[in-house]
Amino acid sequence: MSTLTPVTFVLTDLDTLAARTGRIAVFIDAQGKLDPGARRVNRLTKGAVARLVESARWGELKDGNVVSLAYPAGMAADAVDVVRLERNAKGMAARKAGAALAKARGGKADMLLLCAPLRHAQEVVFGLVMRDYAFEPHKSAASTRGGALTVMQTKPEELEAACAPLMAVAEGAHLCRDLTNEPANVLTTTAYAERLKEMESIGLKVEVLDEDALAKLGMRTLLSVGQGSVSPSYVVAMQWNGGKKGDAPLALVGKGVVFDTGGISLKPGAGMGDMTMDMGGSAVVAGVMRTLALRGARANVVGLVGIVENMPSGNASRPGDVVTTMKGDTVENLNTDAEGRLVLCDVMWYAQDHYKPAAMIDLATLTGAIITSLGHENAGVFSNDTSFCNDFLKAAEAEGEGAWRMPLGQAYDDLLKSRIADMKNIGGPAAGSITAAQFLQRFVKEDCPWIHLDIAGVASVKSATALAPVGATGWGVASLNRLIADNYETE
Ligand code: BES
Ligand code: MN
Ligand code: ZN
Repeated sequence: MSTLTPVTFVLTDLDTLAARTGRIAVFIDAQGKLDPGARRVNRLTKGAVARLVESARWGELKDGNVVSLAYPAGMAADAVDVVRLERNAKGMAARKAGAALAKARGGKADMLLLCAPLRHAQEVVFGLVMRDYAFEPHKSAASTRGGALTVMQTKPEELEAACAPLMAVAEGAHLCRDLTNEPANVLTTTAYAERLKEMESIGLKVEVLDEDALAKLGMRTLLSVGQGSVSPSYVVAMQWNGGKKGDAPLALVGKGVVFDTGGISLKPGAGMGDMTMDMGGSAVVAGVMRTLALRGARANVVGLVGIVENMPSGNASRPGDVVTTMKGDTVENLNTDAEGRLVLCDVMWYAQDHYKPAAMIDLATLTGAIITSLGHENAGVFSNDTSFCNDFLKAAEAEGEGAWRMPLGQAYDDLLKSRIADMKNIGGPAAGSITAAQFLQRFVKEDCPWIHLDIAGVASVKSATALAPVGATGWGVASLNRLIADNYETE
């Protein structure tokens, strides 16, 4: 498990600055007005900060940009990082400033933030901690990462308290990234189920359903996806009951295909290695559950993940096979690479049947087509309930996580008609993400508000995003946590 940058909160003491080693960050607004901390650094450096602020360059900077003054005379520090930021900056502007500082820190230098002028310093700290991530367990050279963050503030306890729930989000997002980045020979289905079971140590109730239990429940469709793999299939249910006893929970359901070869409908070789992230939806669910537990959320939430591996073998399911879902409907499997929906349909049905949720959200790296539609900027959002959907879109917007609503409709559903069974698992070349969502909607009960998030484009990326380096992003943990905080928590 990667660990968060350690952060300590201390009372502002400017007399310690001259001797301080590592890096020191000061925050200055567009007008260039120096607060006492920046003034002291300016005096120690014989006016270097003021020269920067008065230069033409200062005017060209955007909120959240950083200029580093290296090896400043008059100070023991290796660098002074001057951050342009409005004093009341919050949301993404403040988080991007934190992310820029994480880059300057390079994952190793000790860093002191002189946060006194900022009204929402917790947002800067959050951005820094989120961006300060690297997936290193398989590098044989010893890690060069280290160093700590010290935050100076006039009311350090208040800032520490404001930071605590955000650190829980960062913990959840980091877990999500760790799981999503992990290759499939390490994160086998069994290893994955065991890692989730370990979250009992933070107060979650975790139940692992093995193949016998799944067969008894009638999850034949899910089992059909895993039957070609030597690794057994599982469903793991993680419960957080922080809300009122008896209140119906929110259900989160995740696709956990630890590796997707496509099965007998084998994928092409180029890029197949990326399919180690095909459990990204389930990793978001795990991340959110961790966040809720760590911050003691006053809400009832159940996270369910279907963990399988999609492999070709003599025992694998064939194109043309007909399988019966837990719901009882039959599916003609015309493409074994359209496996995610076959996993989700049974877990979604079980979620509603067993937990009677107030609402349900599923997450999946479901279709390549959503990447064609929305690229890597937005997840596809599908819903049967506009008010619920808008609550989510609002939360995603506030967290700076791209999300864009897509349509559903009878004409798309019609594309799933099968000659010999109740439905096919593919719709044809057109509207691939929508027909996948239509397939899932067939397993949503009439009165259950539901959102489907197709995160194939956003779960793992090839170029760094605002708060994440290349690789798994943790997209969704912050948005879902906010959705829960804003709509599902009891007083
Ligand atoms: N896991 C893939 C979708 C995917 C593609 C995720 C790219 C991340 C990046 C999914 O199981 C899949 O293979 N979908 C097929 C569906 C098709 C056969 C109807 C696809 O998108 O090609
Ligand atoms: Mn597939
Ligand atoms: Zn897949």
